[in-house]
Amino acid sequence: MSEKLNLPIRPRRNRKSPAIRGLVRETILHSSDLIYPLFIHESPENDVIASMPGCYRWSIEGLLGEIGEAWRAGVRAVVFFPKIEEALKTSKAEESFNPRGLVPRAIKAVKAAYPDITIITDVALDPYNSDGHDGIVEMAASGDLRILNDETVAVLCRQALCHAEAGADIVSPSDMMDGRVGEIRAALDAAGFEDVAILSYTAKYASAYYGPFRGALDSAPKAGDKKTYQMDPANRREALREAELDIAEGADMIMVKPAGPYLDIIRTLRDAFDIPIAAYQVSGEYLMIKSAAKDGWIDEEKVVMESLIGIKRAGADMILTYFAKDVAARLGA
Ligand code: PBG
Repeated sequence: MSEKLNLPIRPRRNRKSPAIRGLVRETILHSSDLIYPLFIHESPENDVIASMPGCYRWSIEGLLGEIGEAWRAGVRAVVFFPKIEEALKTSKAEESFNPRGLVPRAIKAVKAAYPDITIITDVALDPYNSDGHDGIVEMAASGDLRILNDETVAVLCRQALCHAEAGADIVSPSDMMDGRVGEIRAALDAAGFEDVAILSYTAKYASAYYGPFRGALDSAPKAGDKKTYQMDPANRREALREAELDIAEGADMIMVKPAGPYLDIIRTLRDAFDIPIAAYQVSGEYLMIKSAAKDGWIDEEKVVMESLIGIKRAGADMILTYFAKDVAARLGA
């Protein structure tokens, strides 16, 4: 039976060979799109992170080694997340702007060894706050928690300045307090850091996908949850409103987080704004791929590439991913 259909249009012609598929490919992932999140701690050892297989809490020495490998693979941007010792955590998170703290020291060491790498820092209080929240907590007599917005913003400004003074290229507020982008911009400008950029976590959702990260940093909230500041996963229009505000306040880049379950949000913001968009493939997304691949149920390499292409196709210009070093090594610089 070789009945020929009368089909003048056959989309499969454009998929005939690797070369033709290359010609018509719409989305290409480059090493230069990747941002590598790295955990650091105050210890000479590099600790395995149980909740994130393949990730480590690095000593500063270890961090330099890992960044060296990542740089040679083609990674050009990193972001640091510190695990702070319990004894340094306070209800006002003063350690977050200690100029001799872990993050400023890491920035200086990395800048000295790799002056051309872009250093991004996370601006939020949760690693430093004895309550484990991104902002300062007020406990009502009833036992209800309130996260104080304006008081928190003042501390975030000091934290951002501390990172800028140490040499950060981009500060990245992940706290979701109202008005923090404008205040941080003003504080940076007043101190002469007009070249330090702000990558704002604009649409950061109250997500269960952050679980493994909180395990890595021991930073889970001691009481309550983050729903009064992080966004409701059910909302899309609200992301437009957050983006309008962050852009008006001076954000240089905006972020959607998590990435995979929020591709429609990336696309919504991409269609509405011209500003560069980052997407964060978070710890839970990482762990799900790692766990499924460990038992051979999925092909890790292929699923990772597909997940990142999906995020880029949705409209992200850059992607934070724990797979950054591996992916860059595969893509080439
Ligand atoms: C905290 C912060 C979180 C992540 C990045 N910055 C956790 C949270 O908001 O609870 C999560 C990243 C990940 O899960 O990979 N400001």
